[in-house]
Amino acid sequence: MAASSTGREAFASRAGFILAAAGSAVGLGNMWRFPYQASEGGGAAFVLLYVVLTLVLGIPLMLAEFGVGRRAQLAPIGALRNLAGRAWAPLGYVFVLAGLMILSYYSVIAGWTVRYGFEAAFTGFTAAPADHFGQVAAGADAAAFHVAFMAVTILIVVGGVKGGIERASLLLMPMLFVIVIGLALWAATLDGAGAGYVKYLKPELDELMNPDVWRAAASQAFFSLSLGMGGMLTFASYLKRDQNLPESATVVAFTDFGVAFVAGLLVFPVIYSFALQGAVGASTVGALFIALPSAFQAMGEMGRIVGVFFFFVLAVGALTSAISLLEVVTASVMDEFGMSRRRAAVIMGAAITVIGIAPAMDTDALGLMDKIAGEFLLILGGFALALLAGWKLRSEVRDELLAGASPFWQRQVPRILTVLRWVVPPIVAFVLIFSLRETAAAIIAFFSG
Ligand code: TRP
Repeated sequence: MAASSTGREAFASRAGFILAAAGSAVGLGNMWRFPYQASEGGGAAFVLLYVVLTLVLGIPLMLAEFGVGRRAQLAPIGALRNLAGRAWAPLGYVFVLAGLMILSYYSVIAGWTVRYGFEAAFTGFTAAPADHFGQVAAGADAAAFHVAFMAVTILIVVGGVKGGIERASLLLMPMLFVIVIGLALWAATLDGAGAGYVKYLKPELDELMNPDVWRAAASQAFFSLSLGMGGMLTFASYLKRDQNLPESATVVAFTDFGVAFVAGLLVFPVIYSFALQGAVGASTVGALFIALPSAFQAMGEMGRIVGVFFFFVLAVGALTSAISLLEVVTASVMDEFGMSRRRAAVIMGAAITVIGIAPAMDTDALGLMDKIAGEFLLILGGFALALLAGWKLRSEVRDELLAGASPFWQRQVPRILTVLRWVVPPIVAFVLIFSLRETAAAIIAFFSG
């Protein structure tokens, strides 16, 4: 295992860090959550805001996490305590809680993905994908696939930063890019693809003024870039000071956006060309798992082959993201309690596996957990991180962003800090209020049946 002079594990190469961060970012968020949020959130208006917020909130916040993490050389709880003082340590616990909750349902969705990959390979897709999804999404089978997926995730995290996380990302990420692009090119050949492109890419201007579309777009930007719960912070804590942080954040954000955008170019034409708007609208969390099997089924044998590839790629993307979620929780326990990596990963991974039984048995519970942790807690965490980097730790973060940056990127650092100080907090506070309202309503609706 690679150790820096302080004895802390470290990435062995600069590309390894970028690929691991991109691997964290690119996942189910891009292909499962993005199309479902986009179709709920007004299509193209959502997409446009999502792009803008990725640039204006996403890149600066990723740099806030990178700066704090590399400075502290510790996982979130210790990092916040050491750099910002005791009063900030509870925020680290919120991060760990968010990681626990997100991974517990994320792994269930990843389990669906693996299942669909096996179905493509061995039985073929059914002609009634909405019914089929209803049958398999929740229950003992879903729980079994979730447990299996967690087991693989735990194994990689036990393997450590260099041998496990870095090596898996170097191999799997390039494979993912190639397959998604290939599938989007195929989707362009479908009859009726045009209507899907219109819905996806032609903004309704009045929707741009809707605060709920802002909330959904901001939440998607956070989720997709793995921001707001210390994931990027933790990865950066394994860096030496020669990494160009502003450039790395920009590469990661554009990669993540690129995959989400291309995934939209795949999913929207399929939905419209197979007239699946109704089925997809009725089961939001299932949108992807209803839309694509319909397309694959209609393509016959060819569709099975494409389907195997598609779900394999998706499972790979999910795995590199799940690794980063478990890493935050594991690293925090290691740093806080002096536990070994193996013990921390196994104990916390087992706890997450048990929590995940709830969303595996009930898709409404899954949707609720995504609201609470995947949306509200991330926005809350992002708000706190912006205040931290823009105000309280401004000079520390500035030093970190300058160290290792090329002259071009050094010139951008003052701008980034200004955005973190004046632009990010008000926008995030605004969406936080709407998210609080929306999340409270979702909790009440869930428990009142
Ligand atoms: N970004 C990942 C995705 O899009 C999910 C993810 C990984 C994540 N790590 C995270 C989300 C940390 C929020 C916080 O699928």
